[in-house]
Amino acid sequence: MSIRIEEQDRLFSLETAHTLYQMKADETGVLLHTWYGPRTGTDMSYRIRTANRGFCGNPFEMQDRLDYSLDTLPQEYAGNGVGDFRPAAVQAEGPDGSLSVDWRYAGYRLLKGKEKPEGLPGLRGNAETEGLEIILEDKVNGLAAHLIYWLFEQHDVIVRSARIENRGTVPVTLTKAASLSIDIPYGKKHVMHFHGRHAMERIPERTAVPAGGRLAFESRRGMSSHQSNPFIILCDPETTERQGVCHGFMLMYSGNHLEEVSGDQTGSTRVACGIHPEGFRWKLNPGDRFQTPEAILSCSAEGLNALSRNYHRVIRDEVIAPRWRGAKKPVLVNSWEACYFGFDAEKLLKLAQSAAELGMEMLVLDDGWFGCRDDDTTSLGDWTCNEEKLGCSLKELSERIHALGLRFGLWFEPEMVSLDSDLYRAHPDWALTDPGRDPMVSRHQLVLDMGRAEVQDYLFENISAVLRDARIEYVKWDFNRSVANVYSRALPADRQGETAHRFMLGTYLLLERLTEAFPDVMIEGCSGGGGRFDAGMLYYCPQIWCSDNTDAVERLEIQKGTSYGYPVCTMGAHVSACPNHQTGRRVPLETRGIVAQAGTFGYELDPAKLTEAEKQTVKEQIAAFHRFEALIEGGDYYRLDEREGDYTAWMFVSPDKKEALVSVVATHVRANGPFPFIRLQGLDPEKAYHREDKKESLTGAALMYGGISLPQFNGDYPAEQVYLICDRRYQR
Ligand code: GLA
Repeated sequence: MSIRIEEQDRLFSLETAHTLYQMKADETGVLLHTWYGPRTGTDMSYRIRTANRGFCGNPFEMQDRLDYSLDTLPQEYAGNGVGDFRPAAVQAEGPDGSLSVDWRYAGYRLLKGKEKPEGLPGLRGNAETEGLEIILEDKVNGLAAHLIYWLFEQHDVIVRSARIENRGTVPVTLTKAASLSIDIPYGKKHVMHFHGRHAMERIPERTAVPAGGRLAFESRRGMSSHQSNPFIILCDPETTERQGVCHGFMLMYSGNHLEEVSGDQTGSTRVACGIHPEGFRWKLNPGDRFQTPEAILSCSAEGLNALSRNYHRVIRDEVIAPRWRGAKKPVLVNSWEACYFGFDAEKLLKLAQSAAELGMEMLVLDDGWFGCRDDDTTSLGDWTCNEEKLGCSLKELSERIHALGLRFGLWFEPEMVSLDSDLYRAHPDWALTDPGRDPMVSRHQLVLDMGRAEVQDYLFENISAVLRDARIEYVKWDFNRSVANVYSRALPADRQGETAHRFMLGTYLLLERLTEAFPDVMIEGCSGGGGRFDAGMLYYCPQIWCSDNTDAVERLEIQKGTSYGYPVCTMGAHVSACPNHQTGRRVPLETRGIVAQAGTFGYELDPAKLTEAEKQTVKEQIAAFHRFEALIEGGDYYRLDEREGDYTAWMFVSPDKKEALVSVVATHVRANGPFPFIRLQGLDPEKAYHREDKKESLTGAALMYGGISLPQFNGDYPAEQVYLICDRRYQR
């Protein structure tokens, strides 16, 4: 039994394969967080210490217990304004203006059979998935918090969310509703977060949690953002890729988010994650409820690589739609960097022809096929084909592309509207704009009010019509600006604070309807590259364009940063032209191929412009990708380069540990440099592995402790790929 409840002690223990998550409702009904870490088989509340610390008040009924304070006890879901001065999980305003929230334990319920959070994406689970619901109540304002925990035992994952209900008789407005808060007592911690900018996303940064201070990682852009991914890792100062305790907190949400990490006066760390409270106000009339997004929690005692693998597995198994789980994906060529807005059907067919000759399997027609769009100033929202520009209908183009043996994909940017568009002229009130104020414009476009049913219906009907008419197997779903002027013309004044979250609910509903109506069309998420790379989008889109930066050397950093939370099978990665369009850098085609292989693998160039030798290399790359696809997509991924600053290296190991693929890119070649050896991971120490390129056999132990030898690198950004196979023929 993975959920153990000791009724008398009101102790709740949730056990996964290697971890224990534990809570206890104490004598005053305060729900304490007692442990999240490796399994101990123990009531961990023995670790909770109390002391009279001064300026830490006591609940009324405990006024004589000067050592008992909400300010120092580890809380499971922190209230507000009643004596815990650390960040709150929930803030609410009653009609009398009172802001306090005082949670007390009111019962629990065992759950079986995973339920999807209302209106939101969630981990899929099945009828056997076990869960626990703990109910907290505030007796005065009538709020109840249903804390929901789902166990994914084999993944070492716990999924948390909260449903907040107004059981009282007067309206209450939520001003903060985090998916979770948790206190990790005691000891110094580091936090890793993944920041960035357009064309440089998810760069890891590791900092010490400040004693007595608070760090906030956040987006208020109406999107999960390039600038701050909704994923953080808390770890011990000594934790490395290979060893040490670490905890991951990943929000399954694509809109505004906040991850707060604060160190308190007792040496504990509080983490609170959820929808960003700034600008958020949600009115709950009596009987109403609010569902927070789910957060995916995992803990590892074996370092960051192991924590990442938990996330990789759970995203592959429980987030990605079953239709696409482990599915072979076509090697695509995307028209964007090949021709930007400058194309017609003939040019696209030539591109398709040369792509087909090299073994590519799908042509994706990017931006510019609709309305009268020849640049980015016009036509978003007018999702009808520009036949004049193409010289034929989309149906005809798609059929001619299929006749060449390729599948066909198409770009959309559904949530947007150009100022210069028929849609905006007909329905200016469908865009988010403030009354009496000129809206912020970005890339000449505004953002549609996705919370409105008529907007969702318009998009569903228009996108469906295109997908029904032409032969389309893939959609690239873009989102190319941050959201400002968050004001809905359809909501009353006291509900404007709901607009941003209603926007996300509307987007998810549209994605839900479209994926249901067109289950065989694969949607690749995109937002100026990876501005909306999160578990919420991955629920609908099995892959996401990782970055608009296609420079292979920059991609090493972007893809590595992304790999802390997300599996390679979700990372859109293409081989692009040389010199690179974003940086002007020249990287050998072989290296570009190896880097794109640590992702979904495709091309973003005009194959007709390649030399004969390059064409041959491309054919070999595609063959290599097919050969290793199962290993790359389904294998265990390890980052290898924590000590070797001059290389970026990673490897895939098959689940049975019989095969491995090691990739190394030398990012800094040195004259007369040291002999490069890279220590591998994840192999069976006892087994002998045959190294294909050298025709030599080494034990897993040798490869992991002694390392794999690499050539003395020479030239610009050389790369090396080594395939290892464990075969009885090669056993010593
Ligand atoms: C975004 C995407 C690009 C491309 C352009 C088209 O920037 O990330 O890949 O689709 O939009 O406008």
